[in-house]
Amino acid sequence: MSDTAKLQVPGKDVEYPVLSGSVGPDVIDIRKLYGQTGMFTYDPGFTSTASCESGLTYIDGDQGVLLHRGYPIGQLAEQSSFMEVSYLLLNGELPNQEELTKFENTITRHTMLHEQLATFYRGFRRDAHPMAVMCGVAGALSAFYHDSTDITDPKQRMIASHRLIAKMPTIAAMAYKYSVGQPFLYPDNSLSYTGNFLRMTFGVPAEEYEVNPVVEKALDRIFILHADHEQNASTSTVRLAGSSGANPFACIAAGIACLWGPAHGGANEAALNMLREIGRPERIPEYIARAKDKNDPFRLMGFGHRVYKNYDPRATVMQKTVREVFEALKVNDPVFEVALQLEEMALSDPYFIEKKLFPNVDFYSGVILSAIGFPTTMFTALFALARTVGWVAQWNEMISDPEQKIGRPRQLYTGPVQRDYVPVGKR
Ligand code: CMC
Repeated sequence: MSDTAKLQVPGKDVEYPVLSGSVGPDVIDIRKLYGQTGMFTYDPGFTSTASCESGLTYIDGDQGVLLHRGYPIGQLAEQSSFMEVSYLLLNGELPNQEELTKFENTITRHTMLHEQLATFYRGFRRDAHPMAVMCGVAGALSAFYHDSTDITDPKQRMIASHRLIAKMPTIAAMAYKYSVGQPFLYPDNSLSYTGNFLRMTFGVPAEEYEVNPVVEKALDRIFILHADHEQNASTSTVRLAGSSGANPFACIAAGIACLWGPAHGGANEAALNMLREIGRPERIPEYIARAKDKNDPFRLMGFGHRVYKNYDPRATVMQKTVREVFEALKVNDPVFEVALQLEEMALSDPYFIEKKLFPNVDFYSGVILSAIGFPTTMFTALFALARTVGWVAQWNEMISDPEQKIGRPRQLYTGPVQRDYVPVGKR
């Protein structure tokens, strides 16, 4: 039996159903609030608002738990592959061997881009940020793949989803190649999803490229850690864009645009830049003091999270992966020592303890990506590549939801009340 929540507003008592999910906080269903009271709720930043029903991802921010379709992120990162997790997010269950092979073949068949898109790249400046290029090219996909833009057809929705997952590595690798002035490499479908991306990024036509299995595994794990994260800003952007009936390619371009911001996916680039700027452990206290200073806008990048008030479980896996990659590549970037000591000092500082600020997924990811050879500007592009699967899975879920409506928040208006127009000569 479900509970109700009572609300007293001037002149009226109203009652709303309380809905329970499979796990996590209950929600008060206030859909009738405006009709019954003429009032809205006010919740900038949606800190107390559930915008939809979803069965994909669950986060318990206090306990530091992240589950995809019920499976803990640590188990998925250790034991599965990005392709398996993609299948799981899209279809609800882990694939058996036959289903996985079929899915991998389907994705593989869609890795090439329409040849005309190569010309599209040449319109960008060489020094453009890869996220600017990704955003433009992903949006342009709807100009090339008209046969998968009818969102009322579940088959077309699935083809568009497979295309987006498959083409994103090609798009990201081409953005990188364009920036360094090297020729684009066509996908090699004999390689794994991640191996293929590494080859398209770091290979050249003049030489054979050998995929390093440790790097391939580490990057695949990084993709798993970024695959989905519930109703974060970019996913909510994709859902909001999609709620109007916009085609999936346009929606993913909107998601990429949102992800780029430094408070969201752009934090991985900002975190490594910060660690490099700090440079030596002796300088850490100065940066901690700045992060605590109310008059200084500086924040510790890669620290803090809207939902996690405990260690981000993705950061735990990320920290372990740094050591594996360093060992395999025989590198020892001093920036890792700065990161470890910064984490230790911040976690013993009352400011960070009281505000429950812990390292998030972006704190260590840049250290690994840099060791693999990616320039910092590519970090957020890699996040976009991996998050594409979450975006398309969430978009599909929304389109299939019978309760789905166009997203249309309201506001607390504080501008001028009605007044008469004054001609320019009389102002
Ligand atoms: N360094 C110093 N102080 C911080 C930090 C930080 N990184 N993060 C939050 N605070 C303080 C903030 O000043 C505020 O203090 P007060 O209550 O005294 O005003 C308090 O902690 C709460 O912060 P908030 O900004 O109200 O919290 P939020 O939930 O709106 O923001 C956040 C979450 C992730 C945007 C924020 O923690 C932040 O800016 N972190 C740095 C950027 C970052 O690492 N982003 C990646 C997030 S995880 C991956 C992703 O989503 O893409």
